[in-house]
Amino acid sequence: MTAVATSRTVDTTPFDGQKPGTSGLRKKVKAFAQPHYLENFVQSIFDSLDGFAGQALVVGGDGRYYNRTAVQVILKMAAAAGFGRVLVGQGGILSTPAASCVIRKRKAFGGIILSASHNPGGPDEDFGIKYNIGAGGPAPEAVTEAIHARTKTIAQYHILDAADVDIDTLGESRLGAMVVEVIDPVADYAALMETLFDFAAIRRLFDGGFRMRFDAMGAVTGPYATEILENRLGAAPGTVINGTPLEDFGGHHPDPNLVHAKELVDELFGPDAPDLGAASDGDGDRNMILGRNFYVTPSDSLAVLSEHATVCPGYAGGLKGIARSMPTSRAPDRVAAALGIPCWETPTGWKFFGTLLDAGKATLCGEESFGTGSDHVREKDGLWAVLMWLNVVAATGKSVETLVRAHWARFGRTVYSRHDYEGVDSDAANGLVEHLRAIGPGLAGKTVGPYTVEGLDDFAYTDPVDGSVSTHQGIRLMFTDGSRVVFRLSGTGTSGATLRVYLEQYEPDPARHDIDTQEALAPLIAVAGAVAEIAARTGRTEPTVIT
Ligand code: G1P
Ligand code: ZN
Repeated sequence: MTAVATSRTVDTTPFDGQKPGTSGLRKKVKAFAQPHYLENFVQSIFDSLDGFAGQALVVGGDGRYYNRTAVQVILKMAAAAGFGRVLVGQGGILSTPAASCVIRKRKAFGGIILSASHNPGGPDEDFGIKYNIGAGGPAPEAVTEAIHARTKTIAQYHILDAADVDIDTLGESRLGAMVVEVIDPVADYAALMETLFDFAAIRRLFDGGFRMRFDAMGAVTGPYATEILENRLGAAPGTVINGTPLEDFGGHHPDPNLVHAKELVDELFGPDAPDLGAASDGDGDRNMILGRNFYVTPSDSLAVLSEHATVCPGYAGGLKGIARSMPTSRAPDRVAAALGIPCWETPTGWKFFGTLLDAGKATLCGEESFGTGSDHVREKDGLWAVLMWLNVVAATGKSVETLVRAHWARFGRTVYSRHDYEGVDSDAANGLVEHLRAIGPGLAGKTVGPYTVEGLDDFAYTDPVDGSVSTHQGIRLMFTDGSRVVFRLSGTGTSGATLRVYLEQYEPDPARHDIDTQEALAPLIAVAGAVAEIAARTGRTEPTVIT
């Protein structure tokens, strides 16, 4: 017990002032480990907030390398700053959606989440930190901008001189005048899931022999999935694989897609495949859903879950609306139209869903980048999506593939793929976008390959709730047959530029629903390459990742 812990003020110098993006500050561990670097950022967060004296802060992360070190620094700085209590996940663990859940349920002032999401972890890999507000979601732009401005002028930080706190034993201890409460990272989250989904029906599904595989990829969702799927829902032991969070994720690149979740994909497309396969990312907010020998695109997943949402107790009253990020396919729009509810098109990044969810304008939301969620928290939520699929399968008695094919039969299939060009020269990538902006006005009505251009624009968004305007959110190249190509540069990469090309083609004809995705999109891929001059400008003839 530290009876006389004193706060120490350390003189420091501003750091490079990198703007924390929508996902907070992400850097190599080596950058964070520089003297005062993490401390400067944490103090910049605290200096940008008002009215937290005596209030609670939630702290936790995805368990990657440097997580435990950072938790200790944050605890001592929170105590020096005057927080009344910190709720920290046992072992420093909290998935991003669980952190959002705890912030909301415990009415905390906010939270600090330690993660670089799906980026690899380890001493030579990435680390990250972000601040979430009391509503449970990522800090809005005004707050991240204030933090950024502060990093450029910061001269001092304050930290308690105290021994490290035991974060592995549940219960309360004191750090100076502040209470540190080590909480079970799974409990509040699992309790919330029990209110949303029909656990009895899902349990009957597993009792009846339904088999699934959940790949936690050595990252944070292992304890959550094991407790909920195996312990509470009765899925067979071993359903969860790579279920222990490791500092380097066991060498996995914890990004649940067809490329990085290869072990899972091979099993689901192999002999004796289970009925459902799912994976989540480093911090637990992303998800990939597979049926037996069948891949569900994230856009289709949002559409199908929206179509059947009312079978789940938490959504039995119907949806207020759906929200999708602009590059996400328009499959959810067709479901929204049939349900007579709005479908909002927002810029990429989860924070844009927050105002819609808070205002009751949307209930489900999703991004093509394997992110799906609802108004139960203010982050996307990987395991939530898996549970919703299980609930829909249990309630309808239909397989994953049957559900998606029935959706296509009713609404048509939106053939969709994203091509990423990673590590591209930044100037070349910016030049490509500028080129598209420049030729845009002249393109309407022109014929390219088999397509006629309807128009090209640079997506801008006015938030219908707070009126804030976001410009330059991606180039949309629209064709008269409803096909679309979106070009945008990643905001989360840590080396060079990543060009993302999102390809989408509507296929109403059921006779063509079995067509291979890349084959179906081949003409559109060629047109996208030609219009944007991808090969000439980036030197790349093939994307690095296709999802
Ligand atoms: C990527 C995804 C985006 C997601 C973000 C944070 O951002 O494309 O949908 O919100 O990660 O998980 P990007 O690298 O494209 O800027
Ligand atoms: Zn993530």
